[in-house]
Amino acid sequence: MRDTTEMSSIAARQVPLLDLRAQHARIRDEVLAAIVRVVDAQKFILGEEVQRLEQELAPYCGAEYAVGCASGTDALTLALMALGIGPGDEVLTVPFTFFATAGTVARMGARPVFVDIEPATFQMDMTLVERALDAHPAVHAIIPVHLFGACADMNPLLEIAAQRGIPVIEDAAQSIGSEYQGRRAGSMGLMGCFSFFPSKNLGAYGDAGMVTTNDPEIAARLRSLRVHGESTQYVHEQVGMNSRLDALQAAVLRVKFRYLDQWSARRQENASAYRGLLAHFAVPVTVGETAAYQSRHIYNQFVIRCPDRDRLKQHLERHGIGCAIYYPIPLHLQKCFADLGYEAGDLPVSERAAAEVLALPVNPEVSAEDIEYVCQTIAAFYADRRIPIGQLCR
Ligand SMILES: Cc1ncc(COP(=O)(O)O)c(C=O)c1O
Repeated sequence: MRDTTEMSSIAARQVPLLDLRAQHARIRDEVLAAIVRVVDAQKFILGEEVQRLEQELAPYCGAEYAVGCASGTDALTLALMALGIGPGDEVLTVPFTFFATAGTVARMGARPVFVDIEPATFQMDMTLVERALDAHPAVHAIIPVHLFGACADMNPLLEIAAQRGIPVIEDAAQSIGSEYQGRRAGSMGLMGCFSFFPSKNLGAYGDAGMVTTNDPEIAARLRSLRVHGESTQYVHEQVGMNSRLDALQAAVLRVKFRYLDQWSARRQENASAYRGLLAHFAVPVTVGETAAYQSRHIYNQFVIRCPDRDRLKQHLERHGIGCAIYYPIPLHLQKCFADLGYEAGDLPVSERAAAEVLALPVNPEVSAEDIEYVCQTIAAFYADRRIPIGQLCR
């Protein structure tokens, strides 16, 4: 352990939240070769690269079928379209998530209905689902979000959903390879939706996404919906959209997929180093809990709850440490959802999380020294403020 004198000499250290350039430098030759392969073939839309990616990722996600598409947002949109969700329907989800989870519901003309999250894990609170469904008989789909790289508590949800015949769409955008009691994210609901946004554990060089399913009919519907609802060329049995995954992204993803487990393992090591050091420094922050049901956490984000969050964020940034708030405004309080009728105080656990969370750098490029520096910088912030340890963020 370094002493504080030594720490002051490394105060100029930079620890970015995400370091894609460093990641790219390690795989540059392989990625460029893959890009050249596609460019030389001049086949840019769907085709063999996309098919191979789908064949590689489906078993990884524990699913029979994978359907590539243009983004995680489109994955959710396609999933909702495949179920025929539209005006008059409601869809149950959480407000503490990225906007697309509920934005796609609204874009289909349906109405998002929100249930709160568990305070310790930030995941959908399954004890609230039954009551919400009783109050909203028009709910025709449920979207649990596997937030930050860990799974939501799926068994109780799947049981309630099965009893009522409501399909479950897993928003697994942040959680490729994450496991719930040994089952992979995206393999448990009727469909799983993934994002390959560059900041994800498996990130494209642009936008890309994928839907998984074990249902052959749904898979066929999704394949048709992503190409304007075509069954055979120029024959349209339904109205779909243009959400084709392009071959360049698929080729890059196939290279990066070879490293995915290694990178996720590094994130796990970094997360446990944080847990150890934050406890060592006895700072008044709490780390998002890993529940027993979350048998594999892939740490797309490492999130703490902290008092005086906004000033801590500024302090860390002044010391060269990248950090971010996921998510500062819960979706039920977004202006665009004002007509849903929610008010501040309606979903207090999400609202409190929005005020307290901070994501720290956990990406595979972060070193043990970086983590020590981050934790020492957090400790220095609270030492200055003399915030009593153990009295906040319970
Ligand atoms: C939970 C969640 N859902 C959906 C999405 C949408 O994915 P994309 O950005 O690829 O459209 C994201 C991505 O940021 C996400 O984190």
